[in-house]
Amino acid sequence: MRKFVLLAGASLALAACSAGEEEAAAPAAAEAADTEEGAAEGAAAELAAMPTEALSGESAAMAMHDRHEWFEELGDAFKVLMRASKSDAPDMAAVKEATALAEAKSNDLPGLFAPGTGPDAGKTEAKANIWESPDDFMAKAKDFQVAAAALNAAAQADDVDGFKAAFGKTGGTCKACHDTYREED
Ligand code: HEC
Repeated sequence: MRKFVLLAGASLALAACSAGEEEAAAPAAAEAADTEEGAAEGAAAELAAMPTEALSGESAAMAMHDRHEWFEELGDAFKVLMRASKSDAPDMAAVKEATALAEAKSNDLPGLFAPGTGPDAGKTEAKANIWESPDDFMAKAKDFQVAAAALNAAAQADDVDGFKAAFGKTGGTCKACHDTYREED
């Protein structure tokens, strides 16, 4: 749990530096999702908005760097979950930590995509079409948020089969967004 708190703190700091006001609601929303009600409803938490204010220069570079780190953390959590999903007796303590992180992060994702942080601004895998079709990008972020909440709810309930099914579903929401909005390596 200690690691989760540290990571959540890091993403909070990022939110504060990259997106301003709208992001301030995200930590509270993540907390609300920890309550029984939030977990049962799934994705009761508010989804951050895409920032409307464009970044440039140093602040754009910093936001892009932080976004990369943010996704790397999410990716690392998913590696843990991938291994667990293939195990007959997964380490549910590790699973719970990773799913809690994924759910908390899922509330913040759109806030990482300020205008001015696309391919024109430097090295990034974020495609320019994100800012050309924000409604669809938001819909894909919402699908991920809903799936991540269900994933965490199954894990926290020690529902191993439910966790495995929800893991596959959640992975599908990552892929759906990457297929359209992330540049292939
Ligand atoms: C709504 C869209 C969206 C969803 C949902 C999404 N991603 Fe991504 N992801 C992106 C974009 C865009 C990038 C490129 C970011 C960049 O390079 O700045 C990215 C980058 C990454 C990276 C590479 C980090 C980097 O910057 O090189 C990893 C790892 C990753 N995502 C994992 C995941 C996982 C795991 C999930 C689901 C649990 C997920 N993503 C869900 C849009 C999404």
